[in-house]
Amino acid sequence: MNFKINDHLTWVGKTDWELRSFHGEEYSTHRGSSYNAYLIRDRKNALIDTVRQPFAAEFIENLSQAIDLNRIDYIVANHAEVDHSGALPELMKLIPDTPIYCTANGIKSLKGHYHQDWNFVPVKTGDRLSLGERELIFVEARMLHWPDSMFAYLTGDNILFSNDAFGQHYASEYRYNDQVDRAELYQEAIKYYANILTPFSKLVEQKINEVIGLGLPVSMICPSHGIIWREDPLQIVRQYLKWAQDYQEDQVTIIYDTMWNSTRKMAEAIGEGIKSVRPESAVKLFNSARSDKNDIITEVFKSKALLVGSPTVNRGILSSIAGILEEIRGLGFKGKKGAAFGSVGWSGESVEIINGKLAEAGFELLNDGLKVTWNPDESALKECHAFGERVGKSL
Ligand code: FEO
Repeated sequence: MNFKINDHLTWVGKTDWELRSFHGEEYSTHRGSSYNAYLIRDRKNALIDTVRQPFAAEFIENLSQAIDLNRIDYIVANHAEVDHSGALPELMKLIPDTPIYCTANGIKSLKGHYHQDWNFVPVKTGDRLSLGERELIFVEARMLHWPDSMFAYLTGDNILFSNDAFGQHYASEYRYNDQVDRAELYQEAIKYYANILTPFSKLVEQKINEVIGLGLPVSMICPSHGIIWREDPLQIVRQYLKWAQDYQEDQVTIIYDTMWNSTRKMAEAIGEGIKSVRPESAVKLFNSARSDKNDIITEVFKSKALLVGSPTVNRGILSSIAGILEEIRGLGFKGKKGAAFGSVGWSGESVEIINGKLAEAGFELLNDGLKVTWNPDESALKECHAFGERVGKSL
């Protein structure tokens, strides 16, 4: 359903209430998502982005209600990933000569996806496209989060179309940040940053400072997913700057997996030990085999320290721990501390393996880790508690 943002700007996207995973099965979307596309009407008319392919027919039908498709003068593809470009093939069948403005990398990516030689117009930072009363100014946003990503800024209305940046996988009956539950909105925004943008934090900081340096007033930020930032739109920019600077809260996260509950008992005793010396700190435990990995990553993002526990199996670690540690390695967290623990029976390699993976992921190891043999008895649980106390005091 289209909705008017103002007299000359209309949201023509798709709210996807059903979506429960994104990037295949890599990113959980508990609250669905939206694919935001925007139609600007001036003496020339411009469409910014499209929607995912399964919604192409619906998108074109809705867009046709907003404008005669032949009156779309320009298409702006801020990002070629298929959640924003998926309806282009169907649209371009109807208006095949319409120029598509995107970065040089955007052309490569769109050609790679759709194998079409559409009327591409490459743009760079600072390039302008006059629509009549207003202009679009393009700002390349390389690696936020793909090499082709860019922002478009609409003069006159002072609106930044930021594509994935500042977005959230959040389906809502509302459209603006001042209308929705702020806690839900921020939960989805931080999850998005933690799981997708963490590896590019240095670039996030540089890009934001570059955009601020342009001195363009911003009255609204229209991302390509989720809610539009209308009330104090720069709040999310300020928040991104905080998140980009090796963000941490007063939190310790403990991730473990367990076969017969021994490592779980260790995790709980260690958590209690940390809490006993840091009563104000958040101490959160997750069984990685039973928890959503993206939610865990969000908690790791917020943490100053991460403790990871696994028993030893086949001279290795349990697969859910191996999986989450691989995610953590890829995200390249900075400035966090780590420690390992696990119950061991026979050979007992798990703690050394976890230490190695934490170090490889850039965590500063607090100690050599803690092993307990078999099922921890009272004295072993005291040892776990004391281990937690030492970890807590060292943060
Ligand atoms: Fe929303 Fe990178 O696509």
